[in-house]
Amino acid sequence: MAKIVGGVTTSHIPAIGNAIANELFEDPYWKPFFDGYPKAREWLAEVKPDVAIVVYNDHGLNFFLDKMPTFSIGAAPEYQNKDEGWGLKPLPPYPGDPELSWHIIESLVNDEFDICSCQEMAVDHGFTVPMALLWPDQTQRPVRTIPVAVNTVQHPLPTPARCLKLGEAIGRAVASYPKDLKVVVLGTGGLSHQLDGERAGFINKDFDLMCLEKIVDEPEALAKYSIHDLVRLAGAQGAELILWLIMRGALGRKVSKVHSNYHIPISNTGAGLLVLESAA
Ligand code: DHB
Ligand code: FE
Repeated sequence: MAKIVGGVTTSHIPAIGNAIANELFEDPYWKPFFDGYPKAREWLAEVKPDVAIVVYNDHGLNFFLDKMPTFSIGAAPEYQNKDEGWGLKPLPPYPGDPELSWHIIESLVNDEFDICSCQEMAVDHGFTVPMALLWPDQTQRPVRTIPVAVNTVQHPLPTPARCLKLGEAIGRAVASYPKDLKVVVLGTGGLSHQLDGERAGFINKDFDLMCLEKIVDEPEALAKYSIHDLVRLAGAQGAELILWLIMRGALGRKVSKVHSNYHIPISNTGAGLLVLESAA
């Protein structure tokens, strides 16, 4: 049977993609951020997942404000990255696992999550930046991927409580897949940031550190917030925390923390990293 072995959450800021392209790993601004990642890569090298389910938000590359599904899942053999205008060179395509995608889609719909299935899907920085941080060698694609895109852009956004439940349903879907596969779940984005309006640049370190702690053993405490609470406490784009909650829900009740890192600011964001292992 397929098994979720653990999860990784990380911010997905486009400036990270530029810093990787320019190899700024030892640059004083970037070093405390990049220094968080070798431990996450070591853990991935140890557990050797076959598939990564990547929970992220599309920022306009694939969906736009005119058509914005709440929850979408890729069911394609391959996912292309394209130019979003951040100055990032598009990365090579990512292999999919359409058979597992369709199994998850069927299971979710039977579980009363009516999601949008996408047999073509372009993936943006929300997907590619975390993948590049965790699997830096762009000449190899050691995991197959399943993108799960969640609306964090066009209100109304799904509630944190709904997102935790979607994660639990993804966990049930993977557990019922008959093939022996190791699956890791990524939740990308966050932590606090606001890119626009009067509060542009807003970061809330206390709230971010509280989220990094509570999400390990008490995700329900975070699922109690409303989207408006998250916007107030973490900034308009800090609502990306719902993507972390989907990851956390998929891992089941009992997890252990392998590693975390937090650094501010990276661009406009409180940059958080968390590696969790599922109970055996
Ligand atoms: C930034 C953060 C994001 O989550 C994003 O999608 C784009 C930009 C930033 O801090 O620059
Ligand atoms: Fe974002």
